[in-house]
Amino acid sequence: MKDSYGRIIDYMRISITDRCNLRCRYCMPEGISLVPMEEILTYEEITEICRAASELGIRKLKITGGEPLVRPGCPELIRMLKKIPGIEQVTMTTNGVALKQHLPCLLENGLDAVNISLDTLDPRIYQQITGRNQLHDVLEGIQQAVRAGLPTKLNTVLQTDVNIGEWLEMAKLTALLPVDVRFIEMMPIGYGKNYRSVSNQELLLRLKSIYPELEKDERVHGNGPAVYYRIPQAKGSVGFISPLHGKFCENCSRLRLTSQGKLKPCLCFEEEVDLMEVLRENKDAAANKGQGNHRSISRKELLQQRILRAVSQKPREHHFESAGQITECKQMVQIGG
Ligand code: 5AD
Ligand code: SF4
Repeated sequence: MKDSYGRIIDYMRISITDRCNLRCRYCMPEGISLVPMEEILTYEEITEICRAASELGIRKLKITGGEPLVRPGCPELIRMLKKIPGIEQVTMTTNGVALKQHLPCLLENGLDAVNISLDTLDPRIYQQITGRNQLHDVLEGIQQAVRAGLPTKLNTVLQTDVNIGEWLEMAKLTALLPVDVRFIEMMPIGYGKNYRSVSNQELLLRLKSIYPELEKDERVHGNGPAVYYRIPQAKGSVGFISPLHGKFCENCSRLRLTSQGKLKPCLCFEEEVDLMEVLRENKDAAANKGQGNHRSISRKELLQQRILRAVSQKPREHHFESAGQITECKQMVQIGG
């Protein structure tokens, strides 16, 4: 599918739950209310949407949350999605807390790669950021994913005064492990609005001054907008995802499906197209009334019409740089990071 700016849209991120086993303060602080389970897409409904989307050209799927692994049966969903004709890659973003226990099943069901959120290597700071004491589980999960040969990326959101002091240590993990470490600028979405983003431009300059022989790594690493560099002799690369200080919208290839079945053209804006309505409200019957004796439109076609509508509504770019223009009011945990 192409959007109105000629961008190829072949990637869909799917939030399968708004629940999480951590309480990262910029994402899902204590006390946030949860969506009732019956308002969340079932795995069958997600699969039905992905089948319709794949016929339109979606090739890569990313499972996110909340924390996807807290939803029972998540590895089974991977298996269902991997079977859809046209889907080339199914990957997952997880906080890694429950990765160790689910890894064998995820691998068996065909998971292609994993992104693990890790903002710190210090257990006390981990507790401060996530509200839980689970760093050891995450580190074990990372080790096991790497040992199993699963392509692994670590996502790090830096906060001034909290974990900024660890950026170099995080970057140096790429020397020890064959993983990419990516610094993601904090976006002003949900509770992220309460934070000031650390500039990746500045980080990169610092990294270059420490490693003058830092090399740009031009290989394709995934579906996303990260720009990669390699510390000489390192096993992995250091990535920079810079929505604020390095707008990458001209290369945007994605749609986002929320756990409540809304398809979002862009993270920055509240616009969304309702797919749940098609799935739950027998819309084909409704659509066919009033259409005389035209052949009935199948549910798949109705889904596809709406998917195409979301693609056509994709804006040229986000406006995270100007608070007044950000219309999205949902929390990150409801949209998927
Ligand atoms: N800005 C940038 N990244 C965020 N995440 C959660 N909230 C934000 C935000 N406001 C990240 C998490 C995790 C991923 C799912 O999204 O740190 O790595
Ligand atoms: Fe959970 Fe990830 Fe949000 Fe932290 S950032 S609360 S791990 S969904």
